[in-house]
Amino acid sequence: MSIHFPFDPSITILVNKSHPLSRNDIPLDLIPVNVPFADDPADMRRYMRFPAAKALETLFRAAQESLHPLTAVSGYRSYDRQKEIYEANLKTMGKEHTLRYSAPPGASEHQTGLAMDISSPFIGSQLTEEFARTPEYHWLLGHACLFGFIFRYPPEKESMTGYAWEPWHLRYVGPELARWMEENHLTLEEYYEKLKKSCTI
Ligand code: DAL
Ligand code: ZN
Repeated sequence: MSIHFPFDPSITILVNKSHPLSRNDIPLDLIPVNVPFADDPADMRRYMRFPAAKALETLFRAAQESLHPLTAVSGYRSYDRQKEIYEANLKTMGKEHTLRYSAPPGASEHQTGLAMDISSPFIGSQLTEEFARTPEYHWLLGHACLFGFIFRYPPEKESMTGYAWEPWHLRYVGPELARWMEENHLTLEEYYEKLKKSCTI
């Protein structure tokens, strides 16, 4: 399969347990995202990289206009913040759950500034699988890719992504790649596998 579209490697970057970031990887274009947040955070959870922030604002506006209001919960996290969360989860949730739902430091897409956890005000903005039963989620299934976002951790792809199904975790990759991935039902890991085999990019 040939893959022909422009792409910016800093936007399509693959981050997972086998492709971790370093502590010094800090995006330079982080800005606060102007969308409704579940709990009005005063910290960096409000931030994303500039192109992702602008795309998320447009996506949230389109969702609202379609009567599907969304809430943002958690965006950028530093390496050190991820370490705190991961270590706290190990203590409170246990190893098995933590390995499936929480990235070790360096292995979280939230450190790229390209991910946002989102939910619906109709379920109290919880980050649970209940979100997948809301009309808001179903609207997103058909529209998120048009704005450049993918559902990064789909059901039944845990063996590829390394993380359990998270219907709340959106990742910005840009509209061209997002639409192509959606049409081909591929994870980012599978895209990179295809890219390695392709001579056309
Ligand atoms: N919950 C995702 C995998 C993270 O911690 O980045
Ligand atoms: Zn997330």
